[in-house]
Amino acid sequence: MLVLAILVLSPGLSYGFWKPGNTMCKAIESTHHTCSVTQGGNAFLQVITNASGLQVHFKKQFLTGGSEEVLTIKKGELKIRYDSFRNRTEAFMDNGTIKIQNVKWEDAGKYNVEIFHSNGTHINKFDMTLEVKANPWPYVVFACSSVGAFLVIVLISVCICRKVKARKQPGAVI
Ligand SMILES: *[C@@H]1O[C@H](CO)[C@@H](O)[C@H](O)[C@H]1NC(C)=O
Ligand SMILES: *[C@@H]1O[C@H](CO)[C@@H](O)[C@H](O)[C@H]1NC(C)=O
Ligand SMILES: *[C@@H]1O[C@H](CO)[C@@H](O)[C@H](O)[C@H]1NC(C)=O
Ligand SMILES: *[C@@H]1O[C@H](CO)[C@@H](O)[C@H](O)[C@H]1NC(C)=O
Repeated sequence: MLVLAILVLSPGLSYGFWKPGNTMCKAIESTHHTCSVTQGGNAFLQVITNASGLQVHFKKQFLTGGSEEVLTIKKGELKIRYDSFRNRTEAFMDNGTIKIQNVKWEDAGKYNVEIFHSNGTHINKFDMTLEVKANPWPYVVFACSSVGAFLVIVLISVCICRKVKARKQPGAVI
């Protein structure tokens, strides 16, 4: 029972400790940027040095060729159009950064970013690929706790064997 408890609980508990952290991606330095984020972590996507007074259009491109607006920033306000990004997305105007919390597998893909002045003049346009990596910790911890549980079983078996032998021996001597 104890072994079972260790097996079941420790990966869960450790996942709490090893929850993936923040990944910073500066998408302003190149025309095509790849941002690699751990599933369950937070992504900080900097699309421009300062977004105050600017318009940002953030679209997801589909393999079929179409695209859909995920979010827009207009007059210092973030508008989320894509339901799966609701309640986990923020924008920091001061440093032009979009924060996506709890990155999901389905967030992976190619995004298109377009930035305009408030008067409509075009500033910048680029693509950004979001890669989502598996969080290895639950697996590592699970493997370690399995090995640990195996060792505990071996130890218990050895102890039981010794006890049995110890009981048999006095009889054998007489
Ligand atoms: C976002 O949060 C609001 C308020 O808590 C809730 O009503 C809404 O259903 C949530 N939307 C999504 C997509 O989870
Ligand atoms: C960003 O730009 C706005 C408007 O141009 C300006 O008021 C603000 O000080 C800038 N912020 C930073 C951090 O440079
Ligand atoms: C932008 O500002 C936010 C809030 O202060 C901060 O958490 C984030 O790290 C900043 N991003 C960059 C690229 O400096
Ligand atoms: C739009 O605004 C920017 C920055 O204020 C300025 O540089 C640009 O010339 C303006 N464009 C037009 C067409 O007014």
